[in-house]
Amino acid sequence: PTVRLEDYRPSDHLIDRVELDVRLDPHDTRVTARLAIRPNPAGRPGAPLVLDGDDLRLLALDLDGQPLAPAAFRVAPSALTLPEPPGRPFTLTIETRIDPSANTKLMGLYRSNGVYCTQCEADGFRRITYFLDRPDVMAVYTTRIEAEEAQAPVLLGNGNPVESGRIEGTGRHFAVWHDPHPKPAYLFALVGGCLDRVAKSFDTREGRTVELAVHVEPGKAERAAYALDAVERSMVWDERAFGRAYDLDVFNVVAVSDFNMGAMENKGLNIFNDKFVLASPETATDADYAAIEAIIAHEYFHNWSGNRVTCRDWFQLCLKEGLTVFRDQEFSSDMRSRDVHRIGEVRTLRARQFPEDAGPLAHPVRPRQYAEINNFYTATVYEKGAEIVRMLRTLVGESAFRAGMDRYFSDNDGRAATVEDFLVAFEAESGRDLARFAEWYERPGTPRVAVTGTYDAAERTYRLDFRQTRPGAGDDAPPLVIPVRLGLVGPDGPLGEATCPQVEDGVFVLDAFEAALTFDDVTAPPVPSLFRGFSAPVRVDMAMDDADRLTLLRHDSDGFNRWEAAQRVAARLMIGALRGAATDAGADAFAAALGAFLDARALDDPAFAALVLALPSENDLADEIGAEIDPDAICSARRALRVRIGASLNPRLRALRDALAEPAGTPFSPDAASAGRRSLRSAALDLIAAADPADGTALARAQIAAATNMTDRLAGLSTLALLPGSAREAEFAAFAECYVDEPLVLDKWFAIQATIPEDGTIERVRRLQTHPAFAMTNPNRVRALVGSFALANPTQFNRADGAGFALTAETVLALDRTNPQVAARLMTAFGSWRRLEPVRRAAAESALRRILATPGLSRDVTDIAGRSLANR
Ligand code: ARG
Ligand code: ZN
Repeated sequence: PTVRLEDYRPSDHLIDRVELDVRLDPHDTRVTARLAIRPNPAGRPGAPLVLDGDDLRLLALDLDGQPLAPAAFRVAPSALTLPEPPGRPFTLTIETRIDPSANTKLMGLYRSNGVYCTQCEADGFRRITYFLDRPDVMAVYTTRIEAEEAQAPVLLGNGNPVESGRIEGTGRHFAVWHDPHPKPAYLFALVGGCLDRVAKSFDTREGRTVELAVHVEPGKAERAAYALDAVERSMVWDERAFGRAYDLDVFNVVAVSDFNMGAMENKGLNIFNDKFVLASPETATDADYAAIEAIIAHEYFHNWSGNRVTCRDWFQLCLKEGLTVFRDQEFSSDMRSRDVHRIGEVRTLRARQFPEDAGPLAHPVRPRQYAEINNFYTATVYEKGAEIVRMLRTLVGESAFRAGMDRYFSDNDGRAATVEDFLVAFEAESGRDLARFAEWYERPGTPRVAVTGTYDAAERTYRLDFRQTRPGAGDDAPPLVIPVRLGLVGPDGPLGEATCPQVEDGVFVLDAFEAALTFDDVTAPPVPSLFRGFSAPVRVDMAMDDADRLTLLRHDSDGFNRWEAAQRVAARLMIGALRGAATDAGADAFAAALGAFLDARALDDPAFAALVLALPSENDLADEIGAEIDPDAICSARRALRVRIGASLNPRLRALRDALAEPAGTPFSPDAASAGRRSLRSAALDLIAAADPADGTALARAQIAAATNMTDRLAGLSTLALLPGSAREAEFAAFAECYVDEPLVLDKWFAIQATIPEDGTIERVRRLQTHPAFAMTNPNRVRALVGSFALANPTQFNRADGAGFALTAETVLALDRTNPQVAARLMTAFGSWRRLEPVRRAAAESALRRILATPGLSRDVTDIAGRSLANR
């Protein structure tokens, strides 16, 4: 059943208070819900009360203390209906019975490694009790949790702890939690289990003392310290950057090992995939530390952007997700290097959102319809949603943006809001009409902006002509409002003296299909630096020769565009090569420019240099080419350029590795500067190995042997993964032996092997699926092995004989029986099938058709498979 935005109407009933009594038991958990319900003045008078359910069994039901006559209600696992509810406030008491151990969907209440936990977003609360499970129904919750004390000594709920105690003679105990802030059901959570914790207290600037705690599996407490520190830094930052302080006496984070997504912002009780909490130098890489910091911040920031101000309906998902991603990106940029972080953000957007926007799963940032909302937690809603917020800040300026945010929070506090409510706050503070800007939320497709530049030496003017188009958006789509941050660069650096009346604070607002700009006082032919900082999520088409781009790499004041310049040159060289326009001279000129760049800057900013050395990925190139993709050809073209660069830069790369080596005995630190040095050392290793496999093997093995942390060890192993031979297999075996008892570390090992671009990989993945550490019931294991194969191994997933599609389809179908949400996620790997060359396209299509024709397929997978095949 398709849900449509235009069909939204307020609920006919509201629920003001919820009192839950949850008696936990592995198979027979009893939930009693007392709901204070009343007719909604904004609803239809006399409407029936229809409470949502999913897989529920009703044990008892009464209204204002009286059992309801059988004729007064209808019940099914999926709904509880009172055809004629009282036309006044009343209390409904519902008892249901659930089996947490049998809950393999990991939605609702389930057990993960013996720990009771919940996941209710988007619609999991209805798997706990019958309820109006929609975000515009907000209630104050009191939760009593009871469990066997030996099994679950720790009992956590939303809000503040109120009371706890033993139930004498039963071996059971209880805890009562009260959350004073009204919230939608999707923010409900509880946890019960054996957990260790690290904690510290924090004073908010409003004078509230908050107990911060991170709870993890017994024995892992020392791996929780970094997450706890990130919680505290997030709180400090949100007070300073957005004026947002925390609003309860406790803030709990719990790590569980079976979790469908990354983490969840339940009020006062964030529940995390343990991958995004647990870190030690021996088990976590620098990238893991950065992800933990970002996701801890993301979930904490939801306390205001999501919880205090929530969404009216699920079409408004970007209202909390896009905004919260923007906020966590700003936080990470302040904690680390802003340019380096921005490059990372754009790499993610291009790797995940651009292909989505270009394929059959494209949808607007605010979708207008859905069959399964859990399939809309996408890169478009999250990442493109964040870009819209960033563009808004660029348009209205820093101070109106901050004032608009304050106004949005205060005008909507305690409400379930819409995208319109968000924009109106910025209109009020900036005086700017944002009606046309709002179009960014409404249609799919990545805009293209074509630019041409003309220099007039006699007039000393430089003219830029812009033209925007929107593939996929429809012929009637109006022009977008696109902020273009730009400047001109000369042979020796930025041309400060050139001026242009339409450019204000370095930004030109392109708001028509076509527009032109003229700069005055341009003394020499300039190189334009366009979309500085990636000021809009668009594709830019501008013919520019390599020499001009390399001028930008040397001289632009904008870090993002310096990096982008090198990427553009590399992409042009590789795509040129695979089209048979061999350009050895171009490749050598590029290598020389990279060498000069490394000499000038590598040691000042190793993290940035590492990003410059990482050429566009195979998927980046496929996205750029856009049609008739042959992944094998792309892979070889990319390999060839890496070989050439590695050979040409070998002495420099070796010298850099030596210069960046940590003196023996240096203690590990996950800070950005240390991480940057490690990443440049490994980027250098990778290029050395591309050109000289024997040397690369020796260096990689030496790096693994000497490694004192997971980052260096894994980088060595990743380099070896591309070098077939017995050394590689020996290192794989040694690694597995060393980390038998570390599932999160073995995930890295699964992932590296699944992404080897060789014919044998499919057999390897099949073999690994039977490895004792692999489990189809654990989403992290599935994503590490099969997810990495399907999403990050373009040559093998897209094998012309269809074997890669078949392996993925088999896994999707097997998983769909137990966990449809994760199965549907894996299915998105097929999202770019239409751009493949005909043989592979046909193989992908037949795999998709096979999946769709399978009897008993979940709604989740049916939705993705159906949309993937739909004609556009
Ligand atoms: N709100 C969570 C976050 O952004 C994501 C939860 C999504 N879960 C789901 N089942 N769709 O961190
Ligand atoms: Zn979120």
